[in-house]
Amino acid sequence: MIATENITINKIKNSRLPKVDLNNVPFGSVLSDHMLVSNYINGEWQPSVIEPFGDITISPAMLALHYGQIVFEGMKAFKMKDGSVSIFRMEKHYDRFCKSMERMCIPPMSYEHFNEAMKALVKVDAAWVPGSEGSSLYIRPFVFASEERFGVKVAEEYKFIIFSGPVGPYYSNPLKVKVEDKYRRAASGGTGSAKCAGNYGGAFYPSSLARKQGFDQVLWTDGSSELNIEESGTMNVLFMINNVLVTPSLSDSILDGITRDSFITIAKDMGIKVEERKIGADELISAHGKGILQEAFGTGTAAVVAPIQLISIKGKDYTLPAIKDDNVALKIKQRLLDIRVGAAPDKNNWNTIVKQ
Ligand code: COI
Repeated sequence: MIATENITINKIKNSRLPKVDLNNVPFGSVLSDHMLVSNYINGEWQPSVIEPFGDITISPAMLALHYGQIVFEGMKAFKMKDGSVSIFRMEKHYDRFCKSMERMCIPPMSYEHFNEAMKALVKVDAAWVPGSEGSSLYIRPFVFASEERFGVKVAEEYKFIIFSGPVGPYYSNPLKVKVEDKYRRAASGGTGSAKCAGNYGGAFYPSSLARKQGFDQVLWTDGSSELNIEESGTMNVLFMINNVLVTPSLSDSILDGITRDSFITIAKDMGIKVEERKIGADELISAHGKGILQEAFGTGTAAVVAPIQLISIKGKDYTLPAIKDDNVALKIKQRLLDIRVGAAPDKNNWNTIVKQ
């Protein structure tokens, strides 16, 4: 057992790593050796413990299972060109985690607690960070109401857990998407901008219907008659229209995507004009008709970027130009990958080095 300043580390006896091909892992299927656990009891977050990844014991009456007080993050650590390991945009993920926790009435956690926990866990499992381009260590911090009680209430006890797993590219083929005009992912005043578990569970049914119709995912809208576009599947969505990068402006029904933000920052840095504003289905149809709907793509931590090849609106299919290597989406993605591995300058201090 090793004790860092505040974190106790119980290392695994036999690492599972030798049995894993780090360059060939389907997304979300392989878990690294360790996890970090910190409990909230008596009104305080308790010191974190790192232990071998494994099952946890919970009560069937645990509040999170019934009333859904659960929030999570999706983050990534990268192997840099010089061999060091870095976590991408830790502060922005922490800020979003805090906002999600506040929206779900989960008690706040200090940046020190989150930051120390993240760094310690990634350091312990640094050997699990893959080195090939497009691969990374996906990190999943989450918090849930662990109190044993079935009365409807805000919990007084919580568990914060972080685990990780090596991942390669997430979505491979260009997507066929359908503008969803019946179901909604989120409504104004709801929890759409929080990264809470229920947002994902609620999206499964409409997404599965869309898949039965031959689409890969849905384009969510604000539910208005204008069908203002909000997100794509579990990602933010961006369009290149007449050489301008257009994306729906953030609202309380849209997740403040960290990859979205990185894309906007990099696009501006590359001299691309960016507009964050409403974009309705009619504008997409009209831009397509004029031949100026050049690109559409989703962005998210898991996928990074997922190009869209076809958008279906009210039963009519609109095919986008074929995806080429000089697409803006792919150029920005490449710059992002370069920043993450130290092949391009990290002007905005997005990388936190955890292991030299
Ligand atoms: C991500 O892109 O990291 C997400 O959280 C989406 C999905 C894997 C749940």
